[in-house]
Amino acid sequence: MSTSNENNATIQTITNSPSFPAGLEGVYACYTTLSEVMGTEGKLIFNGFNAVELAETKTFEEVWFVLREGRLPSCCELSDFRFKIEELGHLTSDEVKLVRKLRGGEPMSAFRSSLSAIANGRNFKSWLKRDQAEISEEIITLCALTPAIMEVLHTGRKPKYKFGNRGYADRYLWGITGERPTEANLRALETYLILTMDHGLNASTFSARVTVSTGADIGAALTAAIGTLSGPLHGGAPGPVLDMFDSIGDCANVDHWVSEKMAAGHLFMGFGHRIYRTDDPRSLTLKRVAERQAGPRIDLAKATEAAILKALAEKQEAKAIAENKPVRTLRVNVEFWTAVVLEHVGIPRTLYSSTFCASRMIGWGEHIREQTSNNKLYRPLSYYTGKKPV
Ligand SMILES: CC(C)(COP(=O)(O)OP(=O)(O)OC[C@H]1O[C@@H](n2cnc3c(N)ncnc32)[C@H](O)[C@@H]1OP(=O)(O)O)[C@@H](O)C(=O)NCCC(=O)NCCS
Repeated sequence: MSTSNENNATIQTITNSPSFPAGLEGVYACYTTLSEVMGTEGKLIFNGFNAVELAETKTFEEVWFVLREGRLPSCCELSDFRFKIEELGHLTSDEVKLVRKLRGGEPMSAFRSSLSAIANGRNFKSWLKRDQAEISEEIITLCALTPAIMEVLHTGRKPKYKFGNRGYADRYLWGITGERPTEANLRALETYLILTMDHGLNASTFSARVTVSTGADIGAALTAAIGTLSGPLHGGAPGPVLDMFDSIGDCANVDHWVSEKMAAGHLFMGFGHRIYRTDDPRSLTLKRVAERQAGPRIDLAKATEAAILKALAEKQEAKAIAENKPVRTLRVNVEFWTAVVLEHVGIPRTLYSSTFCASRMIGWGEHIREQTSNNKLYRPLSYYTGKKPV
């Protein structure tokens, strides 16, 4: 047990410490041309393009190309790129067996282990002192393999041949549901996958950059990112959003449910964001997609969204007055409407984080590429607040 003198010494140390924001909130840690999150304006930019416009009008491969090249592809470039992704997206029979053995438990953990094992099996090595083109090929290969890995993990079988598939998003959805997706469901999923492809220096992207900055291989960097994304505060909210709808049950119960939870200091999944101080453009877009899907789930989602936003606003206003601080606005985040859209297209609840992962793999890959093209080892400082030697 510490004495009061020791406690005083610790307090003294902390008082004199250099100041830095908890969670590195507001700190810049890299330059990037990939994406800009404009939290106050509620805009998301991918390499100079408005992400919402891309999501509403382009295919997954076109936007992937934009992240890689900074421009839209010509028709020929797009068909070559699509062909390349398709070609690289096949697992060997040994890899199918390997992935099968890793099934079970948390899908994100199984995916993380599968990707790591495949990179190891393909003999991926440190990227240091190697050709950039080779590194780029390794990145694109692991990304292209994602739908096939997820399919084996979900079905336990060798991926089905998908005659006439319409690309990465189609292969993913078809692999998970076992049926050729309708055009509407494919477009809904593709819109989601594009919107979440990249998002500045979020925790998992930071993880990927930190890992690759040590010279670690591409498989290690992507594995680190997947592990980081698996936390409920980052990419794990859509499943719990549906659990919330189940627990509410019906539109008539919304107000009572929300006020009870609010009184208990509940953390509402699908609300709040570190950067956005206005509407997240991705959630507005996905809400439009969900509205087109229609049905009772949408009505419940709308009623729940409205009730939680109202309750959070009242709480934040009261807090701001009590503490004489500006109001911290809390809005719905991308995960709320994602839950509704993914449920409608037939993705099981247990695979929502994996689906996010299938999209964010592209952003991580491009951040890794960017980091390797101008690397500096990440090595920040920690401020010691432990006991001093006697
Ligand atoms: C996303 C998130 C981690 C951002 O966290 P952050 O930037 O550190 O924000 P804070 O946790 O400091 O939140 C500020 C205040 O708003 C409250 N708040 C934030 N999100 C909230 C939520 N979803 N429900 C209830 N209150 C919330 C916090 O409790 C805190 O209140 P306090 O100052 O009285 O302690 C946080 O909003 C959250 O946990 N949301 C739920 C999980 C989720 O949807 N994750 C997906 C993110 S895309």
